[in-house]
Formats: sequence, C-alpha cells, structure tokens
Amino acid sequence: MSLSVFVTRHLTPIAEEKLNSFCTPEYWPEDTPPPYEILLEKTRHADGLICLLTDAIDARLINQAENLKVISQVAVGVDNIDLQAAEARGIPVGHTPDLLTDATADLTFALILAAARRLGEAIDYARSGHWQTWGLTTLLGESVHGATLGIIGMGRIGQAVARRAQGFEMRILFTDLSAHPEREGEFGATQVTLETLLKESDIISLHVPLTPSTAGMIGADQLKSMKPHAVLVNAARGPVIDTDALVLALETGQIGYAALDVTDPEPLPPTHPLYKLPNALILPHIGSATRSTRDQMSLLAVDNLIAGLQGKPLPRAVARSTGR
Ligand code: GLV
Repeated sequence: MSLSVFVTRHLTPIAEEKLNSFCTPEYWPEDTPPPYEILLEKTRHADGLICLLTDAIDARLINQAENLKVISQVAVGVDNIDLQAAEARGIPVGHTPDLLTDATADLTFALILAAARRLGEAIDYARSGHWQTWGLTTLLGESVHGATLGIIGMGRIGQAVARRAQGFEMRILFTDLSAHPEREGEFGATQVTLETLLKESDIISLHVPLTPSTAGMIGADQLKSMKPHAVLVNAARGPVIDTDALVLALETGQIGYAALDVTDPEPLPPTHPLYKLPNALILPHIGSATRSTRDQMSLLAVDNLIAGLQGKPLPRAVARSTGR
C-alpha cells in the first residue's frame, strides 16, 4: 500500500531527494502557505504531514485526518500545532531543534549590533546623500561592548546568545522558568527576576517559546520599566510582545530601539506604523535562514516523518509537557 504524504511547501533539494526516495509525496507548489481549507482536504487521508510554522495545524485538522501517523514541522517552535490534540490521537510531532540554534543566535547578535549602532539609519543616511562630513555627534548609538544584556529564556538559543555576549564582555542577566545555577557559572551570568532584568538591562533579548504564559509578556508595564535607551530584540515569536504597546513606547521615547525578526502579525503589513519609526528595525523572520541550516532542518524533518511512518520513535520529537 502506498503512503500518502503532504508537504506544505517545497523543501531544500537535498531533503526532497531523500523524501522522494522513500515515498511519492505531494508538495504544495506555491511560496505562500496552502489555504486552511486546502490543508484540511490534503490531510484528510494523509499518512504523514511535513509542515511549516505558517500552517495552522489545529484540533479540527488533526481530528479529521483519519490516517495521520506523524506531523513533522520544519522549525523548532511548534506554537502553530495543537499538541494536545495530536497527543490525544497518539500522533507524534517532530521538530528541528539544535540545528538552528547558532544561526538564530548569530542573527540575534546582528540585531543587537544593528539596533544599538543604528545601522539602518546610518545606511539610509549615507545612501540618501546626507553624508557631508565626519561628525562628532552624528548617528550616536549605544555601546554593545560592556553593556548589560538581559536574556529572557535561557534555553538553547538564549545560551548561544550568552556565549556570544561573553566575547563582547557584556554583563549578562537572565530569567528562566527554572533555576539554573550551572548556567550562571558557565556564562558568568546572573539569574534574576524579570522585574530586575527589565530595569537593569541596556539590551533585552527574548528567547522564550510562544505559550499561553509568554503571550504578551512584554506589555505596557514591562516597557515602562525599561531604561529609556533600552534596545529590545525579538527573534523568538512576535506575540510575546504587545505590538501596540511597543509602538507607543518607541514613539514616546520610553525605550530606545526595537529590533524584531518576528512580529505580530506575520507578515507585518507594509502600512504598519512600526515601519515608519526610525527606531524600529524589522526583519521578515529569517533567524534560521542560512543555506546549511535550512538543509539540515529539512533533512531532520524528513527523518522525523519517515520514522513516524515506520512506527519508530522520532529522532527529535517535541517534548510533550513543554512544547520544546
Ligand atoms: C523559527 O522560528 C523556528 O521556530 O524554527
């Protein structure tokens, strides 16, 4: 009996080659996600599904997919998947952690540097002919070297950011759901309360998964308690920040700068006020977008799918309790 596998976008060629040698999958041919109704139709009789973070894999979809044996997501975050519904039906969910940790931490550092040193504005300044001379007070930013970095969420990516921050001789503060004395030792970091981190950090970087308890965790009150020159960086998930509150905080100078690789909503519409602010830098969710990382993620997603279809444990299954 042949297996029916739906893949919601083309994978990288090396991963497609591997998958095509195992079965004859159907790939959604477009660059944009399949509309929800089509996703329902394509999964109704599918044995396996490879999906991206832009696909809503909700309880309705999971419950109507009568033959589904495995859901394999090409990402580490799985907030688009109803894990409880999958668990209730005994469908394992795979994801692609670790492989993208360094690429995402690199991009986080690019955001930190770009925001603190106002690279977006400086590029526009040079390009638009405003560069008349070397100016003593032109385009002054904030020092990254020696600054206090607050890492919210000291998991895999948070730790990789801390490792990079050590090279910049930063003072590192962090928060996490559990106590991590060993991470304090490893990174010369201090675990503090969120309140202390927000008050004392020059640069604040978010590395928490999106869950009901992290949604909106950076709202008006948290923004108010940050330093006026604070740089807020988000390479985690957009809804962790209350976007309207952030726009207000940037407009009124409550904080200095926001550098976001993720937004709420995604994509951020071109008319959104965030684009008009000189102290906001927006990227289109490219944290893990390096050629080798995306190859590895796609290959692991294929391995997770194949294992699930064969009834074997997935190489990287989502931990049930945490979604990580
Ligand atoms: C990207 O955001 C991911 O979760 O892998």
